[in-house]
Amino acid sequence: MKNSSLVDVKNLHVHFPVFGGVFSRKINSVKAVDGITFSIGKNQTIGMVGESGCGKTTVGRAMINILHHVAPDVEIGGEINYHFDEGEVDFTKLNPKKMQHYRSKVQMIFQDPFASLNPRMTVSQIISEPLQIHTQMSKKEMLDRVGWLLDKVGLQPEQAQRFPHEFSGGQRQRVGIARALATNPDLIICDEPVSALDVSIQAQVINLMMDLQDEFNLSYLFIAHDLSVVEHISDKIVVMYLGNIVEMGDSAEVYHQPRHPYSRALLSSVPLPDPTQKDRNRVVLEGDIPTPLNKPSGCAFRTRCPLAKPDCAEDIPPLSDTGNDHFVACPYWEEKF
Ligand SMILES: Nc1ncnc2c1ncn2[C@@H]1O[C@H](COP(=O)(O)OP(=O)(O)O)[C@@H](O)[C@H]1O
Ligand SMILES: [Mg+2]
Repeated sequence: MKNSSLVDVKNLHVHFPVFGGVFSRKINSVKAVDGITFSIGKNQTIGMVGESGCGKTTVGRAMINILHHVAPDVEIGGEINYHFDEGEVDFTKLNPKKMQHYRSKVQMIFQDPFASLNPRMTVSQIISEPLQIHTQMSKKEMLDRVGWLLDKVGLQPEQAQRFPHEFSGGQRQRVGIARALATNPDLIICDEPVSALDVSIQAQVINLMMDLQDEFNLSYLFIAHDLSVVEHISDKIVVMYLGNIVEMGDSAEVYHQPRHPYSRALLSSVPLPDPTQKDRNRVVLEGDIPTPLNKPSGCAFRTRCPLAKPDCAEDIPPLSDTGNDHFVACPYWEEKF
């Protein structure tokens, strides 16, 4: 079933208006996500990478439909079409009441497992909270399920009455995963879930997530800045730059043969443990990433791009298939630098 689509994101825009002046009028907007299209298959993992501020978290929040809670004035355009077993639904068109029904199907785990777990609640309360909201389970059924979930994520059911501070970072992230799993979701948005953990612990958590994916038939949107982590867990990789997708394709191919000049620069800055590859050219990106308040015209990357030409300022280059479903938003990707 790897190829049947769970969710199709079509031309998604997320703009945060900026108000100013005496009358507090809209004077500008932060184009956090500026027209992106991609799909996540059932039981598939899409890795999403890009520098801080390029819109990754905003995409994740849009996909679980919580942006209006974070920013009431947010402007959302496009479609986020889910194909659940029970039917089709576009999350951008749902009112909050209808959304309540679907909340259990798409869950999120966060970078900092300490900040995202309420320190005054026991692990049992934390994991059973979504069960209280979304199910009619009795107290006994809930406790049983909490114990079962703790076992699934490699913790002991006896630890259920402990508080988050009694756990290590890796264990806390396991609690976050157990909570996300509680309601049997189809998709988990993983927003840099291992970035705050020691490297040795990262691998354990990633392996656990991959095991759980197979057991529960889960799909993941896996956001990270560490490309080696993404390559390991993902089927496909999406590279973002200032609210747009600049490259998208098979994970190993994007990682080993990046084509867009931005991805090439991003990947060349990854420390390479493989001694046979130590001669790989390192490209240092010059200049700061521009702000999404004032995006460069045409290709937003052109101000830092070693291949930039005058016509790059004109139109936003479309994502084109360069072969083997490997999409690149740059007409000059074959040029060397
Ligand atoms: N609630 C918000 N209100 C206004 N601007 C926001 C809000 N959330 C994010 N942004 C802006 O949107 C852009 C993308 O942010 P984000 O999605 O957090 O990026 P990333 O996760 O890739 O670091 C940034 O410029 C950020 O400042
Ligand atoms: Mg983020």
